[in-house]
Amino acid sequence: MTKVLVATDKAFAPVAVKGIREVIENAGFELILLESYTSPEDFIKAITDVDAVIVRSDKMDKTVIEAAANLKIAVRAGAGYDNIDLAASTAKGIVVMNTPGQNSNAVAELALGLMVYYVRNFFNGKSGWELKDKKLGIHAYGAVGRNVARIAKGFGMDCYAFDPFIPREVIEKDGIKWVGSVEELYSKCNFISLHIPANSQTKQSVNYPLLSRMPSPSVLVNTARAEVINEADLLKMFQERKNFAYLSDVEPTNKSEIEAGFKARYFCTPKKMGAQTEEANINAGIAAARQIVNFIKNGDKTFQVNK
Ligand SMILES: NC(=O)c1ccc[n+]([C@@H]2O[C@H](COP(=O)([O-])OP(=O)(O)OC[C@H]3O[C@@H](n4cnc5c(N)ncnc54)[C@H](O)[C@@H]3O)[C@@H](O)[C@H]2O)c1
Repeated sequence: MTKVLVATDKAFAPVAVKGIREVIENAGFELILLESYTSPEDFIKAITDVDAVIVRSDKMDKTVIEAAANLKIAVRAGAGYDNIDLAASTAKGIVVMNTPGQNSNAVAELALGLMVYYVRNFFNGKSGWELKDKKLGIHAYGAVGRNVARIAKGFGMDCYAFDPFIPREVIEKDGIKWVGSVEELYSKCNFISLHIPANSQTKQSVNYPLLSRMPSPSVLVNTARAEVINEADLLKMFQERKNFAYLSDVEPTNKSEIEAGFKARYFCTPKKMGAQTEEANINAGIAAARQIVNFIKNGDKTFQVNK
């Protein structure tokens, strides 16, 4: 019988697991659940003889992949797949997929939530400020960026977007101002919301030359990936600008240094929360399960990311 492992150190909502189970068992497959595990060895042990795996942010490095003797497909229930070693997967003939767009509304709502939390002084009772009419730069206009645009327009924000891979008309059709360079985006906007993937081009790319273009006050919101930020430059911005703030869903490695010096202008969710809603869990989890069934039964490779 085809064995499908769901390996999640941060478990899906129970209602999502129920939906995944239904899809897998209705296909005649067996579901194996490894939730909230604490050691990579547990993951390695569980993956040894399964045909398919669904993961979230769980690290699938070379060691894990090499231990997976029967694995044919790995699906990252979510957008970013930088937690999976694609070269090692390809070398073993394993198809890797993501589930694009399934959690994007959840992440976008969190991005706006972080902004509100900050401009209202972390709800400390003191007078804050409003998002209405403030300039928001949306850095990448993919699934999350578009949802941020939709919600931010509702707040009355003045929205700009930069994405070299999305046609200008797509951005303008949504009533968002198109910007032709990343430098221009940062120069224009007091708020920047990051929605770029972490890849060789974007890692460390949000650096001092870019950030220092932002007008004051400047608020950088990162619900994308920690690696896209140059953290030494982030610290420099905190030191140089009295009204630079950083709000994040992805913990910086120099968190303690930032917290020690700039607590009033920094907030990071205690755990990555962007996709942690029942709706997003259901959407991404069930999409992942369906993609596995379609691949095993029909060879459907839509959403493969290691082509
Ligand atoms: N916090 C969370 O829990 C959470 C959840 C989902 C996604 N994410 C992260 O959010 C980010 C966006 O996810 P998404 O679902 O919108 O992905 P997506 O693939 O739909 O969109 C990414 C966009 O980035 C654009 N892009 C790529 N390289 C770029 C560059 N150099 N400059 C500008 N734009 C560039 C692409 O054209 C695309 O439109 C990713 O980093 C993803 O890992 C975080």
